[in-house]
Amino acid sequence: MNLPETKVELARRGNKVVYDLGDSIIKVFNENKPVSDVFNEALNLARINETGIRSPKALEVAQVEDAGHGWALKTSKVAGVTLAEKMEAEPARFYEYLEQFVDLQIEIHGYQAPLLNRQRDKYARMINGLDQINATTRYNLLERLDGMTKQFNVCHGDFNPTNVIVAEDGQLYVCDWAHATQGSPAADVAMTYLLFALSDKQQADAYLEMYCERADMPMQVVRSYMSIVAASELARKRGGANDEFLMSWIDVVDYQ
Ligand SMILES: Nc1ncnc2c1ncn2[C@@H]1O[C@H](COP(=O)(O)OP(=O)(O)O)[C@@H](O)[C@H]1O
Ligand SMILES: [Mg+2]
Repeated sequence: MNLPETKVELARRGNKVVYDLGDSIIKVFNENKPVSDVFNEALNLARINETGIRSPKALEVAQVEDAGHGWALKTSKVAGVTLAEKMEAEPARFYEYLEQFVDLQIEIHGYQAPLLNRQRDKYARMINGLDQINATTRYNLLERLDGMTKQFNVCHGDFNPTNVIVAEDGQLYVCDWAHATQGSPAADVAMTYLLFALSDKQQADAYLEMYCERADMPMQVVRSYMSIVAASELARKRGGANDEFLMSWIDVVDYQ
């Protein structure tokens, strides 16, 4: 496949570029991205599409000739702006948007998708692959993970306001299902908390309080997942100054 001249760049990150192609969106990864990851994201998205959760439709996986032969995922476009953009543009309405964000996550957690990858397997794999922590801490984390209640709810895995699109009719759509699994909502909430906390602790606390209140979930259960999700986020090797922060969350496990 070749990209049309008319493409508009939406986002550029470490290993990918996202383009607007008019009526579709294409996420083009660099040549280091394993092709199986790209197919996995496409399969996750197709499974999510089948649940009825409002999400862009999976359209195509192809190799792009003019991008170093990197693999790409094409999805239908949801015209609108992200909830992150809304929150930034209208800080006075932050809590209103946060409420919509929380209710959407609760709604997603109400779905099941029995063929989706298992959250527990994903976390165990990521913890085992972590070279920054020693065997004793890895064992602690795996034991903690093993002791958690087994649940099989749809979890986005990277639920944050940049992945929620407010469509022109006001409906909310969720994109970026690369890390979706079936598992425990509390773990998904812990991950979202951590993502907020990486940039704003106050927003993170407001989010956590609101989710637990509206979903009637004990905050302690979410907290018991913090070290596990911090380890899994560290394993993604997004790098930067965040590693120290994530390590501090992992270390907490030793004192509990
Ligand atoms: N189907 C889509 N429709 C509209 N905008 C999209 C769509 N997919 C992605 N985007 C926009 O591109 C951004 C990056 O895409 P995303 O899939 O979240 O990639 P990343 O893995 O880099 O976060 C999103 O935050 C959103 O603004
Ligand atoms: Mg994203």
